[in-house]
Amino acid sequence: MARTIGILTAGGDSPGLNAAIRAVGKAADKAYGMQLLGFRDGFRGLMQNRFVRLGPEDLAGILDRGGTILGTSRARVHKMDVGNGRPMDMRPMMLKTVEQHQLEAVVCLGGGGTIKNALRLAEVGIPVLTLPKTIDNDVFGTDVTFGYDTAVNIATEAIDRLHSTAHSHHRIVVVELMGHNTGWLALGSGLASGADVILIPEIPYDVDAVAEKILHRKAVGSPFSIVAVAEGALSSDEAAEYAHLKEAKRNSEDEARAAAKAAIAEFEQAQSRSTEHLAGELETRTGLESRVTILGHVQRGGTPSPADRLLATRLGVACADLIAAGVRGVLVAARGEGTEAVDLKEVAGKRRMVPLDHPMIHSARQLGISLGD
Ligand code: F6P
Repeated sequence: MARTIGILTAGGDSPGLNAAIRAVGKAADKAYGMQLLGFRDGFRGLMQNRFVRLGPEDLAGILDRGGTILGTSRARVHKMDVGNGRPMDMRPMMLKTVEQHQLEAVVCLGGGGTIKNALRLAEVGIPVLTLPKTIDNDVFGTDVTFGYDTAVNIATEAIDRLHSTAHSHHRIVVVELMGHNTGWLALGSGLASGADVILIPEIPYDVDAVAEKILHRKAVGSPFSIVAVAEGALSSDEAAEYAHLKEAKRNSEDEARAAAKAAIAEFEQAQSRSTEHLAGELETRTGLESRVTILGHVQRGGTPSPADRLLATRLGVACADLIAAGVRGVLVAARGEGTEAVDLKEVAGKRRMVPLDHPMIHSARQLGISLGD
């Protein structure tokens, strides 16, 4: 029997996933004579033993395809919803699949949640490796994730287009970017498109300071502004409340912890309406009409940029090399021009926020872009 490895994609889809699948599969085949099985719909497919053989002909023509040819899902392997109302630990079934196919490795392509799941699989003896994908760029331990560059490109083009209409109507356009609880995408696309204000979760904002910036622009002859706001951005008051809720969750157990988690979910839910609220506040304070654009899932769709294809290819090939070398339990991270295998235990449960001394923050400040503080 040929040496066999498995692969799956989990969490939100991201441009570059197919390029990574292709790179792992082609390098495993051509360089090491291994065959690849693709499991459908993330960890669920591994649990249900739903797979497809990925031979060279299946891997041809997918480099430029968006999404994932395998399908994806969000699930926790140790607490999986299996339809009976009780989350179940499904790792034993996944181990059975691995043993049945004698998989030498299971490559999990995903973000922070996938890394946590992969580590849980490693705990029951499943030989895992992970590759960092997400448009959020928030995976700890890697310089960058594939999907981010494409999303920055899409968002930049969209903000460029919003500029001309904001200018024509003398309006404030508040454009909301994805990024979960980090500001990489808003900062990258906001800077690349010349936004006047960029609001990110790492820097709690003061709505008066934002209004002041817009009024100043109006006073000097630019009665329009583009405000790029990350979906996770918070005002100073909201940030204090959120920190308080998270602290309560950290310090509680059992029932109290469940209540704290529910309060956090409620807070995050309410947060999803806050871009509209912010636009209204700015309109009231400046006297300029405002409009909101929420870019949403368009940021994740379509063909990956060349930079993402190159990154996914580099990481996928490195992954095949590591499998052949017997390395397991790692994140294949991007480091400078190369790659590095990082122990999953060092990265699981951590998130890479934008450092406050990041060059993009410095550039924004030097250009007079308001970061809302
Ligand atoms: O993690 C990627 C991401 O697109 C985030 O930016 C966003 O908050 C989330 O996924 C949206 O998730 P879903 O696709 O489940 O709505």
